[in-house]
Amino acid sequence: MLVVKNLTKTFNTAGGKVAALENVTLTVETGQFASIIGKSGSGKSTLLSMLGALDVPTSGSIEVDDVDIAKLSSGKQTDYRARKIGFVFQHYNLIPNLSALQNVMLALEFGHMPAGKRKARATQLLSDVGLEPDEQLRKPSRLSGGQQQRVSIARALANHPAIILADEPTGNLDSETGQKIFDLLHRLSRSENTTILAVTHDMDIAGKTDVTFRLKDGKMTTI
Ligand SMILES: Nc1ncnc2c1ncn2[C@@H]1O[C@H](COP(=O)(O)OP(=O)(O)O)[C@@H](O)[C@H]1O
Ligand SMILES: [Mg+2]
Repeated sequence: MLVVKNLTKTFNTAGGKVAALENVTLTVETGQFASIIGKSGSGKSTLLSMLGALDVPTSGSIEVDDVDIAKLSSGKQTDYRARKIGFVFQHYNLIPNLSALQNVMLALEFGHMPAGKRKARATQLLSDVGLEPDEQLRKPSRLSGGQQQRVSIARALANHPAIILADEPTGNLDSETGQKIFDLLHRLSRSENTTILAVTHDMDIAGKTDVTFRLKDGKMTTI
């Protein structure tokens, strides 16, 4: 279970303080698929960064299975990211010189999977997200946006994360492809009991998730 209490993040900039998040409180049950909506600049990416321990809150707590990740040492936070979190980004962030298969195998290497087992697991993950064998051998530039996002989801799943954090995963895709990507995430959250938090601008998509949170100027508002 993910329990966020009174989460506040203030950035100090040349122009003064920016309150990116103010007293955000939310709970997501294990295995739930949650969507986060809100206008540009409302704090959505900042919230995902805090949840993924990519940045530290100014105040408040983030408990993942009863451990406050904001209070972990930076070494333990790295460990938390590697073992518990899968990230999916709007721009896929695949390594251009590696094939789809090699991109996923690299994530398995980071997860300390023995070399001899990586190829079979990567192939299985890519098949699960719907990539054909010949597509698995292509570099990202030879795959469509939807296919690249499937690869990035396979990569995010590589080390059995408890939580997937997806920041506008369909932001660069047409609405039909975006819907398919969300359907895929939904299916995975069910089959693997993975908790998913996904930022989206598409209300049709948000309406189909288990729970929706809306941010407005860094504050949580009711839908
Ligand atoms: N590293 C940073 N330094 C200063 N201000 C930031 C930083 N990151 C985000 N912000 C500010 O925090 C607010 C929320 O940003 P963000 O979380 O990226 O919003 P969203 O993802 O909803 O578009 C914005 O006003 C943004 O300019
Ligand atoms: Mg953002």
